[in-house]
Amino acid sequence: MDDSSWDVTTAGADAYGEDVQLALAVLYELHYRGFAGLDPAWEWAPGPLGVRARLEKIFLDRLREDVPAADDPQSVLEELCREPHDAWGVSHELAARGDWDMMREFFVHRSIYHLKEADPHALAIPRLSGRAKAALVAVEFDEYGGGRADRMHSRLFADLLVAAGLKDDYLGYLDVVPAVTLATVNFMSLCGLHRAHTPMLVGMFAAAEITTAPSARRMVDALERLGADEACILFYSEHIEADAVHELVLRHDVVGYLLEQDPGCARDISFGAQAIEFLEGRLGSHLLGSWSAGRTSLLTSAETPA
Ligand SMILES: [Fe+2]
Ligand SMILES: [Fe+2]
Repeated sequence: MDDSSWDVTTAGADAYGEDVQLALAVLYELHYRGFAGLDPAWEWAPGPLGVRARLEKIFLDRLREDVPAADDPQSVLEELCREPHDAWGVSHELAARGDWDMMREFFVHRSIYHLKEADPHALAIPRLSGRAKAALVAVEFDEYGGGRADRMHSRLFADLLVAAGLKDDYLGYLDVVPAVTLATVNFMSLCGLHRAHTPMLVGMFAAAEITTAPSARRMVDALERLGADEACILFYSEHIEADAVHELVLRHDVVGYLLEQDPGCARDISFGAQAIEFLEGRLGSHLLGSWSAGRTSLLTSAETPA
């Protein structure tokens, strides 16, 4: 193993650009499933870890510039519960006038996260204690299928991909999703892998659970309108009720407990929630902008899987 070739230049790199985000995605993957044929020992090799730290600083510094953290995470989360009446995101567009090509593109973007659904958040478990740990594990138990492999949310999404005529290989679409998509998943990994960022991870998890249930409802509407296979619908219908419960558990038992134990982590919890919303907003704008311009939202239009 040779570390000497890891002295790469990162000065001036675009925090949200393809190079930074793809490099982070690959470096983070060393901590999940790695890559076929690659020595697993690279996970803790100083060279890649050093590059990762520099890229993370670029990413996080830029996010902190773009996302002013609020002091009160509960009011940030409360705000997320009240969707503005004029809100228009990807799930609104798909429900109103999405076609099957748009739907399949959306699945491809989401495959990067959903095929490892809940894994970044599981990294919080050893860092939490008491009520927060017990509650977060209860949510994760649901995400992992309540003990049934065929009900794991990552499995449900794999079934969705196959039913939509897409491939269900883990990271199978890494080479066609743009940086704007990778950034949403990289932020989860960044928060998960650093114990110091556990409050950010919790804030991000709570925000995601709050916003998932209403968008899952619209996805079910969209898929029913398109006459989609039941396996496509199941992934989203499963999230309507589950995430309404998860949201409450995270807000009251995980965020609530953390704030009781350490009020000083309030800004980090808020930042986690606001930053993931910001990154999701960038992805949503990219998807809607691409579709309204009549072009693919993926890096290549050659992506029309069997
Ligand atoms: Fe889930
Ligand atoms: Fe959930």
